[in-house]
Amino acid sequence: MIKVSIIGSGNVASHLINAFENSIEIELVQVFSRNIKVLEGIVSSDKITDNISSLKDADLYIISVSDSAIAKVSQQLLFSGRLVVHTAGSLSADVLDGKNRSGIFYPLQTFSKNRVVDFAAIPICIEAVNPEDHRTLEMVAKAISNSVFTIGANQRKALHVAAVFVNNFTNHLYGIAAGICENNDVPFNILKPLIRETAEKVMAISPKEAQTGPALRGDEIILQSHLDFLTDQNTNNIYKILTQSIQHDAKL
Ligand SMILES: NC(=O)c1ccc[n+]([C@@H]2O[C@H](COP(=O)([O-])OP(=O)(O)OC[C@H]3O[C@@H](n4cnc5c(N)ncnc54)[C@H](OP(=O)(O)O)[C@@H]3O)[C@@H](O)[C@H]2O)c1
Repeated sequence: MIKVSIIGSGNVASHLINAFENSIEIELVQVFSRNIKVLEGIVSSDKITDNISSLKDADLYIISVSDSAIAKVSQQLLFSGRLVVHTAGSLSADVLDGKNRSGIFYPLQTFSKNRVVDFAAIPICIEAVNPEDHRTLEMVAKAISNSVFTIGANQRKALHVAAVFVNNFTNHLYGIAAGICENNDVPFNILKPLIRETAEKVMAISPKEAQTGPALRGDEIILQSHLDFLTDQNTNNIYKILTQSIQHDAKL
């Protein structure tokens, strides 16, 4: 069994804890959190610690804390020469303190604590300098996921940027749509079959092939009537810039 400890208790850490606890190939040694209360009921109490200097021996330490705290937390580790990785999409392994061997264990999914995820279907992007460390990361990743990729720093950043478009920006647009519905007394639920079909369509055809709507058709009368309808300046600007982008893309 590969011994793994997790540092952090947020969205990603809590899902990793669950995935490792359910794997017969991984022994979850310990979980560190500043606030151990949040780990109660998620992991057995003998594995929880709020003392970073009491971390036991493990084959792998996964730091899954806020991006801005990763460097500092890695410096707080008292041991050296062990394998320590982080789970961030856009940070290099170099942010980790050089006294330990470093790497990346980036699960490409959106995680929220109260949402169940199927880790087996989540792509995990791994990176390590040392081939032996790479093998360890690969074994750990394959113990919980059927989708494991070796991805370098630049490509990982590209994936993270792409992920912001498909997830954060799309979700923000859902929020704008929900606001428009609310302001006009129509239920957002009516849009849900459209949301589902939009996502399902790109599983089968390319986003470019899937595009429809007034921007693509160049229907200036409808476009202007939508802009007149959108009195909120911010929403109006977003509508304009996305319309321009769709029309620009259509010419390529
Ligand atoms: N959420 C996602 O969808 C997602 C997906 C892929 C990768 N990631 C990456 O995974 C990492 C964790 O993200 P998350 O969404 O799980 O974050 P999160 O839910 O906001 O949790 C952040 C964790 O960091 C801890 N923390 C913050 N500052 C700390 C410090 N100075 N010392 C010790 N612990 C500290 C917090 O502890 P307290 O509770 O004590 O504040 C908390 O456990 C990030 O690198 C993120 O980029 C996130």
